[in-house]
Amino acid sequence: MDRRKRIAKEIRDCRTLCEQHESRTTTVHGVDVNCAPGVFPPANRVTTCLANAASRCGGECALDLGCGTGILGLVLAKRFRRVVCVDRCPVAVTCARDNALNQGVQNVSVRAGTGYEPVAGMRFDAVVCNPPFYPSAENDRWASYERVELGLIGDFVKGLSGALTQNGVGLLATSSLTDNDWIAETLARDDNLTVDRSRFDGVTRSSQDIHIWRIVKTLPEGAT
Ligand SMILES: C[S@@+](CC[C@H](N)C(=O)[O-])C[C@H]1O[C@@H](n2cnc3c(N)ncnc32)[C@H](O)[C@@H]1O
Repeated sequence: MDRRKRIAKEIRDCRTLCEQHESRTTTVHGVDVNCAPGVFPPANRVTTCLANAASRCGGECALDLGCGTGILGLVLAKRFRRVVCVDRCPVAVTCARDNALNQGVQNVSVRAGTGYEPVAGMRFDAVVCNPPFYPSAENDRWASYERVELGLIGDFVKGLSGALTQNGVGLLATSSLTDNDWIAETLARDDNLTVDRSRFDGVTRSSQDIHIWRIVKTLPEGAT
């Protein structure tokens, strides 16, 4: 199957998975979350990979960018004093708030909005993001713009350095179908960021690889 057809099929499958279900509760990384209809279901291996990586971080304040059910924020809440979750989808915002409430988690707040806009001026010890990563002409909740810089991936990458504290960590998931070159080149232009990328084969039902990016903000060599 050629690349375009593969991507179209991935998006169709993702849409089917996300849009045709009743509210259901799942456990991811030991955290129970309810997934309301229309919210991205967290019981998948990409979210699990990020949850595993997130559970190895810790500090004062963390951000879950594009939170969906709030699953990654709830994992972070065990390791950080304060967590902010952000999503542009109002149904996801309500769902994430309900999940924090139902879990009795008091150090998580959920804000509606796009990219870093709801947390402008704040600094985080960790920023975690599982964005829509299928490149598509139709930008929506399940797919992103063909030019990744225009969607949540672009927001994450362009705003990361300014949003991280010194030694802060950014975690991002993409796929082999994503324009990973743009991400790598853009991050490499920032001397304050050190980038490490792990690839996981066959993480989804398809043949694509999942890339987990770990980006650390450090002072450039020689800086004091
Ligand atoms: C793939 S889902 C991931 C949800 C959750 N973090 C998880 O791993 O289960 C991506 C989420 O990002 C949200 N989103 C997409 N673009 C966004 C943007 N520009 N700003 C904020 N949220 C966005 C979508 O509404 C969706 O809930």
